[in-house]
Amino acid sequence: PVKTGFGIAPVNIALSKYWGKRDVALNLPTNSSLSISLPGLGTQTHLTWLPTLGQDAISLNGQRLSSEHKFAKRLSAFLDFFRPNLAGHFQVITHNSVPTAAGLASSASGYAALVLALNDAFEWQLSLQQLSLLARLGSGSASRSLFPGFARWHKGKQDNGMDSYAEALPESWPEFCVGLLEIDIQEKPLGSTAGMQKTVETCEIYQAWPEKAEKDVNIIQKAIQNKDLTTLGETAENNALTMHATMISTWPPILYWQAESVAAMHQIWALRNQGHSVYFTMDAGPNLKLLFLETEKPALLQAFPNLKVIQPFKVI
Ligand code: DP6
Repeated sequence: PVKTGFGIAPVNIALSKYWGKRDVALNLPTNSSLSISLPGLGTQTHLTWLPTLGQDAISLNGQRLSSEHKFAKRLSAFLDFFRPNLAGHFQVITHNSVPTAAGLASSASGYAALVLALNDAFEWQLSLQQLSLLARLGSGSASRSLFPGFARWHKGKQDNGMDSYAEALPESWPEFCVGLLEIDIQEKPLGSTAGMQKTVETCEIYQAWPEKAEKDVNIIQKAIQNKDLTTLGETAENNALTMHATMISTWPPILYWQAESVAAMHQIWALRNQGHSVYFTMDAGPNLKLLFLETEKPALLQAFPNLKVIQPFKVI
């Protein structure tokens, strides 16, 4: 019979990053990571299983994708895990409220929304923890997008990945802000999946990363408990720059920054020197995400008029 389901999930920004896999097929990370979800930005997905449909029909932001499109191929390969039989196919209608592949982790919200839609359609009634594990198989960072607020993805130890899933942290922090500074929304030249693989293969300083990242996750988790923005910001910024250092020291080099990204970094450091408490993080793209408290909002909007400020815990 026809099955239909719906799922919605937010994007998340890692404060301590996931970069590198110990198992490529299962998306098992070399290190734990910790993120903040951004309410209002993310993915909505309607999914239908049609026993008589000849092939998957996938549409993204109102556009039907050819089965050769790389996004459609990756999605169909993920759906292979869940097909009730080989005769029917899925119709997937998905909408992102963030630019695809612009370093705003649309694969994270995408696979999280998709597993929620599957859970709805097939009435699995799985827990968020179990769904996090399934979302991880689609995209590692998607494991963290099942939760609002802060989430920690445990790297896990088992080879089968059954202990590698994310969990929500209980803390709420109404003054905490994330500012999105868009430098460029062009699709990135090299996606994270390939980028981290190259890094693991060729970067000679990569061995320092897993231990540092594991340490940073713990420091940031404590900083959240203590509402200590300075420790959180310093650790998150240093963690992002360390990840980018491994990218730059990969061969061929991976540099996601543009001139404007570097200019924005200098501007943030200048603001800090003037006494403003603001930090940044960056992912596999040229855009910056600023971390600060509500009291700094006016000064930052003045410095960066295009800044899009999100207060993940603020009840409006
Ligand atoms: C830089 O989750 O996109 O955003 O597991 O191959 O799909 P795959 O990679 P992905 O990598 C995200 C990398 C990052 C850091 C992070 O979000 O932790």
